[in-house]
Amino acid sequence: MGEKRQLSLETLEPELSYFELQAYIGTTKHMGGFETTKALIELCHINKDTYVLDAGCGVGATACYLAKRYGCRVVGVDISEGMIARSHERAKREHVEDSVEFRVADVRDLPFDGALFDVVICESVATFIEDKRQVASEFVRVTKPGGYVGLNEEIWIKTPPTELVEFAKRTWEIKAQVPTADDWLGLLEDAGLCNIVVQTYKFDARRESTQVQRYRFQDMWRMFYRTLFLYIKKPAFRKYMAERRYLPKNLFKHLGYGVFVGRK
Ligand SMILES: C[S@@+](CC[C@H](N)C(=O)[O-])C[C@H]1O[C@@H](n2cnc3c(N)ncnc32)[C@H](O)[C@@H]1O
Repeated sequence: MGEKRQLSLETLEPELSYFELQAYIGTTKHMGGFETTKALIELCHINKDTYVLDAGCGVGATACYLAKRYGCRVVGVDISEGMIARSHERAKREHVEDSVEFRVADVRDLPFDGALFDVVICESVATFIEDKRQVASEFVRVTKPGGYVGLNEEIWIKTPPTELVEFAKRTWEIKAQVPTADDWLGLLEDAGLCNIVVQTYKFDARRESTQVQRYRFQDMWRMFYRTLFLYIKKPAFRKYMAERRYLPKNLFKHLGYGVFVGRK
């Protein structure tokens, strides 16, 4: 399914940007780790017959997990070619190429007919995008009537001081304001979803540690040597990392995340 890009990322000079470095290293993440992915899957009622869009799929970890664990058909899209190349590699390694398709696409303008998917999931993607209304409206457009749209996105749990807002924008290249849970709820209601379930979370180190469960030992080894390679070979990477080494102490008093699932 889908066109496979034969791209050796090892030969590329990664751009020093948050997502291009992640694509090079071969890892993406979202707050709440794998445990929150599983909560999202359950709330969206995914089973073997569900046709799923993973919008902003990163390196394809959730899309491949869905295909493997549930045997359902999945399409993963991401705006980054590097992420899609990594997703293809993963699908091949995990032997789910026949049920997962990956393609480069912008979630603000999805290249799909309306009412195609039973479920659209989106983990930590819309947070980074300025025009969230457009994103929500695209998700609802491509979902079948009666289907589910499920997001796991960052929230401010209380009003942040300006320096935290600036830190988040600079460090994670978040182009817009991080919404509150009420903002996300309003956005999904306005896009036409109903029966919206909202679960909000504060940062929890144990839950975050489940992040690694989406990856296998071999994946971690690859991430380790790619990171080491960058550290040894690229002074600009060392500088980039040094500038982001310390998180402000009060960050997680303000920054949390929420799962938002609605029905079309
Ligand atoms: C924080 S990562 C999360 C990736 C993945 N969902 C996960 O949980 O591992 C955010 C992803 O959104 C992608 N992204 C950002 N803007 C996008 C857009 N407009 N359309 C599609 N993908 C986008 C990035 O390239 C990146 O892979």
